[in-house]
Amino acid sequence: MADDLETLKNDTLTALAAATDQGAWDSVRVGTLGKSGALTGLLKQLGKLDPQERRERGQALNRLRDELTVAIEARGRELEEEALQARLTSERVDVTMPAPLPVTGAIHPISRTIEEMTAIFGAMGFAVAEGPDIESQWHNFSALNTPDHHPARTEHDTFYLPAKGGDGGEPRVLRTQTSGVQIRTMLTQEPPLRIIAPGRTYRADHDATHSPMFHQCEGLVVDRNITLGHLKGCLIEFLRVFFDKPNLPVRFRASYFPFTEPSMEVDIGWSKASGEIGGGSDWLEVLGSGMVHPRVLANCGLDPSEWQGFAFGMGIERLAMLKNGIPDLRSFYESDLRWLRHYGFSAFSPATLTEGV
Ligand code: DAH
Repeated sequence: MADDLETLKNDTLTALAAATDQGAWDSVRVGTLGKSGALTGLLKQLGKLDPQERRERGQALNRLRDELTVAIEARGRELEEEALQARLTSERVDVTMPAPLPVTGAIHPISRTIEEMTAIFGAMGFAVAEGPDIESQWHNFSALNTPDHHPARTEHDTFYLPAKGGDGGEPRVLRTQTSGVQIRTMLTQEPPLRIIAPGRTYRADHDATHSPMFHQCEGLVVDRNITLGHLKGCLIEFLRVFFDKPNLPVRFRASYFPFTEPSMEVDIGWSKASGEIGGGSDWLEVLGSGMVHPRVLANCGLDPSEWQGFAFGMGIERLAMLKNGIPDLRSFYESDLRWLRHYGFSAFSPATLTEGV
């Protein structure tokens, strides 16, 4: 290779090695191979040479151009890679760093308790069902086998809304229980059914232990060959997981609800003196339950000789108070931030069976 080409080659390679960013690299590329680049200039002069010289010089220049093109491209890729690495380092996010705890918000104990119930029953194959807060008397009472003269229907207990067409002009009610969702579910879904229905309920009651608006969680299972054994197994399991007490004593006590036969109230063991759940020798009622009354199944078009079921209903505030040591029902609805910070839950650890309920 002629000396001037050797020099061009060495100068270019040195400049390439010294180019540490894309801009400097581009100047070397243009300065060598560009329209007015050094190598392009030499190629242009070929025409002035005589044929013999032109062939030799031409071959040498072509070789040099190939060599430099490869070197320039390689350096370009190197710089791109370096730039990418630099970005990856400077823009790195440490995903293992704990998120700052929410100082401005917390999950309300009622929402949390609904999440916990959903997680536990969800693991037992239950789906969540919903119904409206404003309900027809038929869904809230009649279809649930509640006679017209039943005390729950009196204005003393129930909020009635002005009659307005539909339902034969019969006034609607603010639902007094979530049990109407049983009816809506049986009317719209084919058995077998396994649902819970958490939601708001309303009664014309207001004192230290009653609020005109409160929450219940309904449960309904309809299938073939369902027995009281299934009801007991399911509710004992739920209560033991919910209170995180594998040996929690659970007692079933005969009772009456219009929509179940037989009906049972369910008590858990606790100590009245210390308030400890599962300890002591006292009993505390926590929910109502029973085998779905054949008339309720028939009201929903199901043949009671083919389908059986069990149902249950519980007060969400009551269970939340017992589990979390919350002494006053009214405090749930006061929106006192100090209370919420104390009894609320972090949004960063939702209720699941693996994270804990
Ligand atoms: N709805 C009842 C109440 O408000 C609770 C209840 C009891 C629901 C027994 C049920 C059940 O589904 O089987 O007091």
